[in-house]
Formats: sequence, C-alpha cells, structure tokens
Amino acid sequence: MKALLLENVHPDADASVTGHGRVEIQRLSASPDRAELEAALADTELLGIRSRTQVDEALLSAAPKLLAVGCFCIGTNQVDLEAAARRAVPVFNAPFANTRSVAELTLASVVMLMRGIPEKMHAIRNGEWLKSAVGSREVRGKNLGIVGYGNIGSQLSVLASGLGMHVHFYDKDPKLVHGNARVMNSLDELLETCDAVTLHVPSTAQTRWMLGERELMLMKKDAVLVNHARGDLVDVDALARLMGEGHLAGAAIDVFPQEPKGKGEVFSSPLLNQKNVLLTPHIGGSTLEAQAAIGRDAAIKLARYAFEGSTNHAVNFPQVEPGPLLVGRTRLTCSHRNEPGFLSRLNEAVSAAGANVASQSLQTVGELGYVVADIEGEINGELLSAVKRLDGTLDSRVLVDCNEGIETA
Ligand code: NAI
Repeated sequence: MKALLLENVHPDADASVTGHGRVEIQRLSASPDRAELEAALADTELLGIRSRTQVDEALLSAAPKLLAVGCFCIGTNQVDLEAAARRAVPVFNAPFANTRSVAELTLASVVMLMRGIPEKMHAIRNGEWLKSAVGSREVRGKNLGIVGYGNIGSQLSVLASGLGMHVHFYDKDPKLVHGNARVMNSLDELLETCDAVTLHVPSTAQTRWMLGERELMLMKKDAVLVNHARGDLVDVDALARLMGEGHLAGAAIDVFPQEPKGKGEVFSSPLLNQKNVLLTPHIGGSTLEAQAAIGRDAAIKLARYAFEGSTNHAVNFPQVEPGPLLVGRTRLTCSHRNEPGFLSRLNEAVSAAGANVASQSLQTVGELGYVVADIEGEINGELLSAVKRLDGTLDSRVLVDCNEGIETA
C-alpha cells in the first residue's frame, strides 16, 4: 500500500498508518504544483492533505489507484466530496482533534476580558500603570452563555463549571446537559441573561450574521463577547460601533469576515481601535497537541478503511464499521450505486462462486451504497472479478488479512 502525505502532516501520522498494516509512506513537505502532484498520485492509494491542496475532479482522475483521502484538519471544503464519492473514494477528517484547544482559549479569553487585561496590557506597553479594580471582575458566579452546545460548546461548559460559572446554552437541537447547565429557549433569552456570551456554531444560512446590532443591543452593557467559531456570525462593524459607544465591556475575536490569505496580506478590522479586545489570527484550534491529535485521528481512519474496510466517520460515504476480520475469513467490500436489486445481484455472484457469507453490513446514503461481507475461507480472484463486473459496482476489494494488506484485482 502506498501513502502520500502532503503539507507537513504531523509525524505522529506515520505510526498510526503503519500500525494497521504495511504501508510505504512518501512525504512531500509543501503542497506541490499540479504536475508534480499528478505524477506522485499515479500509484498513490492513500492521500493525506491539509487545507491547501485542492482535490477536484481532475486531480481525482489523475489518481486511478486512490482508495481514500485523509484531510489532516477539521474542514473538508478543499475536496470535491461528491466527485470523490462518485469514484468510491471516502474522505476522512479529524473534527474533534482541536476541540479542547478552542475550549481552553475561549475560557481564558472570558477571564482576560472580564479583568480588562487587553486594555491594561496596551496601557502598560505605553508606560501607563492602570492599577484600578474598576470594571475588573472574577468569572466565578457569572453567567456564561454558550451558543451552540456541540463538541466545543459542551466541553467549554464542563471547564467553565469547574471555575464556578453558571452555564447557560442555546442550541437548535436538544442536547445532553452537562452538570448544572441551563437550557435557554431562545438566543434572545441567552443574550439578555449572560455576562459572557460565546459562539460555537458553524456558518450556515441560519447562523450567518446571527449577532447584528439588534442582538448585540440585547446583551448586558457590561457583558463580553467571544467569537472563536466563524467570521460571518457577528456584524463586526456594529460591534465596533457599539463598543465605541460604551455598550459591551470587551470582545475576543479569532475569526473575521475577511481574513488575510497569507503572511503578505495586511489585516484590517474596525475592532483594531477598540480598547478591551483580544484579536487573534484564527488560531483557536492551533496547538501542538491539536496538530498531533489531528495527525493520529485522520491517519487511523485512513488505515482502518484501507485494512479493515471501515468507513466510520467518512464525510461523504455510507458508514459501515465491520470491526476486525476474524481468523479464517476473508472480507469483500463493494461500493456501488444505490439502486434496487444490487444486493441480490451481489449475493447471487457470491453464491454462484460457492462462497458462504458469515456476516454482511450494508449502508446507503443518497446515490451511494457500501457493503462489507465477511466470507468463510478465501475469496478467489474470479469472484472479485465477477463482483467488479456487476451492474452498479463502483469498486470492490478483497481484504485478506489486516496485517497483510489488500489485494485489488
Ligand atoms: P459541532 O458541530 O460539534 O457543534 C455545533 C453546534 O451548533 C451543534 O450542537 C449544532 O446543533 C449547533 N447549531 C447549529 N446551528 C445552530 C443554530 N442555528 N442555532 C443554535 N445552534 C446551532 O461543532 P464544533 O466542533 O463544536 O465547532 C463549532 C464551531 O467552531 C465551528 O464553526 C467550527 O468551524 C469552529 N471552530 C473554530 C476553530 C478556530 O480555530 N477558531 C477551530 C475549530 C472549530
């Protein structure tokens, strides 16, 4: 099995991939130019990228042996997921690997803002000694409002409770409540109730600009706001204007409507002139621990697909978790068009080959189906060829042994 890892994927990824089976890993430090990448992809079976490499239809067609793509990051926008699915290529990512990093920074930001630290740091750099306790508050006993109680929001809830904060949250879906957290019936109720409000929702049609002037005005005059989620959730012009007028005591913003694309581009924001702001360059999840965790998570998912046929946690594929292959069995995987009659055609081919199915799992999503069948004994090449020829088959593989790798016909 050949894996190509681009963009300085964390070194921990190597052991996670090779821990499941024999893999020859090639690393290219940057994202190479198109011609170099296409040449390298000719015999690549597992591809690991971060956010810069664009995997589109044309690139996929230059990778005839490609089995799976691992995005060693959170987002998967850089991959044409539908094109990958049409080619029976599952795409994996590491969505929870930096959850803790964001939750820690958020809580630290709330503490810093409620103590007025950004303003005091700015003053001391200019030789000013702002020693007054006016406006400086502990977080203990204060109301923290979490918008979006998903991975990050719920982790933050636990950490904030430990500091003695009263946690309130608003989510569009019913959620498991951690500790003594209180569910708010509406965003407005949360905004009116809390001393610190923090956003942890994705950018969607429903959340875009969810905090405009009206919503910011609902917040307490001395409340603080944190946005470490997405840049288009908050109207930063309205935020800067209201802060300038003395509404809101501070804001910590890590994500912006317009972010520089690289080091060369200058950052500008109406918030730069505000006193009690903590502005950071979209680094909420950027820690050494998160990078290592991303390296391990994405690599394990790639390897488990390669050697066990597991599509668990794939973002564009039906999810099948067949577990380890038992001794004496051989595993047949088949990605196929989701259409009536396919499973019976597959089973007819298996039974015509005299093979006995010991277990079988099938899942479908949209136009795609994925089935994993464990067969007693060995699978001969003729059966694999017959399955590959079936009307509707996109790809089929035989997994011989988790430590021996895969035979593809
Ligand atoms: P998640 O998917 O686990 O949680 C999101 C939550 O928001 C879910 O519980 C969902 O039900 C809720 N939600 C969605 N739409 C909503 C709406 N209209 N109203 C109320 N609740 C709604 O996501 P996770 O992992 O907690 O991440 C949250 C955000 O943080 C994402 O936007 C992500 O991109 C961002 N993020 C930012 C990072 C940074 O570097 N600053 C790093 C990692 C994540």
